[in-house]
Amino acid sequence: MRIGIVSVRDAAYHPNQRLMEAAQQRGHDASLINPYALRPLMRGGQLGFGPNPEGPRPDVVIPRQGALVSDPNLAYVRQLELAGVALLNRAQPIAIARDKFHTMQCLTAAGLPVPDSILCNHRDTLAACAASVGAFPLVVKQTRSRQGSGVWLAESLRELEALVDRDLEPKQGFLLQRFVPIQGRRDIRVLVLGGAAVAAMDVVAAPGDFRANIHRGGRGGGVPVAADLRRLAERAAHCIGLDLAGVDLLVDRDGSPYLLEVNYAPGFRGLEQATGLDVAAMIVRHLETEYSP
Ligand SMILES: Nc1ncnc2c1ncn2[C@@H]1O[C@H](COP(=O)(O)OP(=O)(O)O)[C@@H](O)[C@H]1O
Ligand SMILES: [Mg+2]
Repeated sequence: MRIGIVSVRDAAYHPNQRLMEAAQQRGHDASLINPYALRPLMRGGQLGFGPNPEGPRPDVVIPRQGALVSDPNLAYVRQLELAGVALLNRAQPIAIARDKFHTMQCLTAAGLPVPDSILCNHRDTLAACAASVGAFPLVVKQTRSRQGSGVWLAESLRELEALVDRDLEPKQGFLLQRFVPIQGRRDIRVLVLGGAAVAAMDVVAAPGDFRANIHRGGRGGGVPVAADLRRLAERAAHCIGLDLAGVDLLVDRDGSPYLLEVNYAPGFRGLEQATGLDVAAMIVRHLETEYSP
């Protein structure tokens, strides 16, 4: 199989390196594609790529362009899909997953639990928006946060106002969300592949941080994750429509689970380390069974 991995990063980046390695080990031809090298073109009523498309068409493409690639540039994912190229994660689910509020909307509509959240888009309404989701401290989140970089905690209205003035552009919209206190809480990452939770771990935030992200120094542990939580992650991935998803959830001290986000291009270094599983090989085997020409 010819496997294309769309990424702005190079072959040394962990997921790229592991996926290429696993593909080669299983006899496939895998290569990286820079998203900016894909320029969707329509000419003479045909969908294609221009001006000078390079190389043969892949049998399957893994879109991992990341949050830094703008929405208009996602046209390439739609173009591939419309042109009949198999994709590990389709364009519409990716668009939903890239927007945390859109994700919360879909999950809630499907009856799945998320922390109370509001999309705030005007500085003058901060106090009223805050009051509608709970008491301070509250979580403030960019709709397109990644690796915990656009997630903050505001202890008071004054702190929230300062944060908005410093770090946010209110008109772009941001989330205010009920804070699930760190005491007694469990943060969990579940990898869902082809509808099944194939790997899961606990993530413990670095000391002094409430954000349990591996990229922020969080530590992953191979603690068994109960079947009901795995099932919840599977339902979340199914609801968004993703074939591969990294689902972040947490469990409050009273045992109530909440879904936080569904990543369409999850990293898996921490997960491989914590569980000892060969996640890259699982993904490649999945491509073989589901996407072989
Ligand atoms: N409502 C919340 N209450 C408590 N902690 C939260 C909440 N939302 C996010 N966090 C913490 O911050 C981390 C990052 O948030 P997340 O929504 O997953 O965004 P990112 O895309 O930046 O990872 C979560 O894994 C969790 O540890
Ligand atoms: Mg996350």
